[in-house]
Amino acid sequence: MKEDALRDRPVAELNPDEAAAELRALAGEIARHDRAYHQDDAPVVSDAEYDALRLRSDALEARFPDLRRADSPSRKVGAPPAAGFAKVRHARPMLSLANAFSDEDLVEFLRGVRRFLKELSDDPAQALEMVAEPKIDGLSISLRYEHGRFAAGATRGDGFTGENVTANLRTLADVPETIPDAPSIFEVRGEVYMTRADFLSLNERQQAAGGKIFANPRNAAAGSLRQLDPAITAARPLRFFAYAWGEVSGSVAQTHAGFLDRLREMGLPVNPEVRLCRDEAELLEFSRQLGDRRADLPYDIDGVVFKVNRLDWQERLGFVSRAPRWAIARKFPAEQARTRLNAIRIQVGRTGTLTPVADLLPVNVGGVVVSRATLHNEDEITRKDVREGDTVIVQRAGDVIPQIIEVVRDARPAGSVPFVFPRTCPECHSAVLREPGAAANRCTGGLICPAQAVERLKHFVSRDAFDIEGLGERHIEAFRSDGLLGGPADIFRLQDHAETIRVREGWGERSLANLLAAIEARRQIPLDRFIYALGIRQVGQATAKLLARHYRSFAAWRAGMTEAADPASDAYRDLAAIDGIGPSVAADLVAFFAEPHNNGVLDDLLAEVTVQDFAGTAGGGGALAGKTIVFTGTLMQMTRSEAKARAEALGANVAGSVSKKTNFVVAGADAGSKAKKATDLGVATLSEDEWLALIGEG
Ligand code: IVH
Repeated sequence: MKEDALRDRPVAELNPDEAAAELRALAGEIARHDRAYHQDDAPVVSDAEYDALRLRSDALEARFPDLRRADSPSRKVGAPPAAGFAKVRHARPMLSLANAFSDEDLVEFLRGVRRFLKELSDDPAQALEMVAEPKIDGLSISLRYEHGRFAAGATRGDGFTGENVTANLRTLADVPETIPDAPSIFEVRGEVYMTRADFLSLNERQQAAGGKIFANPRNAAAGSLRQLDPAITAARPLRFFAYAWGEVSGSVAQTHAGFLDRLREMGLPVNPEVRLCRDEAELLEFSRQLGDRRADLPYDIDGVVFKVNRLDWQERLGFVSRAPRWAIARKFPAEQARTRLNAIRIQVGRTGTLTPVADLLPVNVGGVVVSRATLHNEDEITRKDVREGDTVIVQRAGDVIPQIIEVVRDARPAGSVPFVFPRTCPECHSAVLREPGAAANRCTGGLICPAQAVERLKHFVSRDAFDIEGLGERHIEAFRSDGLLGGPADIFRLQDHAETIRVREGWGERSLANLLAAIEARRQIPLDRFIYALGIRQVGQATAKLLARHYRSFAAWRAGMTEAADPASDAYRDLAAIDGIGPSVAADLVAFFAEPHNNGVLDDLLAEVTVQDFAGTAGGGGALAGKTIVFTGTLMQMTRSEAKARAEALGANVAGSVSKKTNFVVAGADAGSKAKKATDLGVATLSEDEWLALIGEG
């Protein structure tokens, strides 16, 4: 997987696996900086660099809400260690939103909704009303009222479990203590925020008192709410806007607009800018107008949220992972600034990609100080003719890490020379190769390149892979230089070197015992984690899961991958038929197994660990758990997307083509070759009516 070049690629360009890898790396780095800052009082990076990491992590999460990690830095925004708050499980998860970065994205989103809802796709004249709300830049919280009384309040946390901040929320004037006419169980959700004016005066007070200065209103709001002493929160000017609900007994409205009216009647604050948009034109116009007025609003917003007005349609549209299909956040565009590029550095990543990074004279771009920017690759430097010493325009959007837009040619110093991309790896001095047609330069050093070896091992032991606690980067580096760690299998042989390790600085009896126990505990590993741990290019967690679910056992997977080397084989067809695996991922898988060295690493590992067969199904115990279904032809009652979503929600795998592994084919009107193939292979074929009956709609 191309994790190495990731840091400097725009969030918008990353696929889900790359995003997951990047979020993992960011979570680790940020946690390290948090410890250095909060616990050791010894930060190792500037605030600006730290902010850029947080920003990128947030942006990735905003774009891929379902990839938000349990250890995500966004759970810890501007706050002291969370040890003091009790955890609360949300009765209904608190979700995120998918993002639209342009009008085109927005129009595409609306089209998607229309396509999904059969009656709208059939009748383009039928209105799709949307409610537009400013996207408040604060932190989302949930308020629970029981029998009209405020009973509990929680932060979003990871979406499933948040922190109990009831006492703190009670101090907000915008949070009513009682709502006499609320349903007996009523969870209302919304955003806690701070106005810009309040934020500035808070910072003045903080400065005078020698307290913490907040970077922006959002951090100030989060830091103020997550105080262990509610008296501190009470002294902070926090506000609240309500815009969603969680668990509710009975129904409160038929439309989202109606729901917001009810909130107002109940005395809950609803944002005054909210508007009902009757068509696409109104919606685009609203987004443009609010963007223009952004700086005039008393609080920070980072976009507009559009929500399908009809609640019955919301219900049908449902969710993709952790974002609703019925809502989208239109993010506002980027902000730019001019600064000097001091130097171009080359970073070497886990799989050896060399990525150029610009060191900048720190500059404030739309409220965030930026000191590094991506240069992507060699061609990008050539194309823009970026040179050390140049003055450049940098841009920061909510969604990307800073980018260099252009060089200010008039400001170029005399005697500047074009940048020469290195032909040897700055880490191991191996030759650098560029594959024909590829943009990336790669170090050929493989495992001998320290940048790659350490990264590979770090990935191998990381939380979502082998999850071996206590084997951090420092230890990996130390063990490698002592010759104790070559490949991953050596981790499981560290116990043979216990004596050598014990006498190393920083190891005690306890920590060594803990590490060895953590390693022992991982000698059994689920197939999907094992696949992911191998760090095969383009095979992240999601792809690893798909493979595990499909092949079920390590032996079957390995045999399949090896046989798939022949593109004419059944094994290759079987691999390529997995929904979500394209030819490029298939090629990387096949290439991994074609490399003898990798098979050596695998054999070595298998002598140490047992890979468990895949046990799970997509939807837990759903009615179609573990079944593989193929849809073909035109369905009359629901769109293909809705049918697919329904099947997946019931635990099925939906495949794109028919094979012996298919359990049944649902054939709509004009079903063609797939239905025929099903008959040929003896796979059961269901009519649309039979399918509806199966899912309880018939
Ligand atoms: S609706 C299932 N509406 O944006 C729908 N979210 O990127 C959940 N936010 O976590 C959210 N203003 O913290 C919604 N008017 C608004 C919002 C809003 C701000 C935040 C919220 C959410 C995040 C998602």
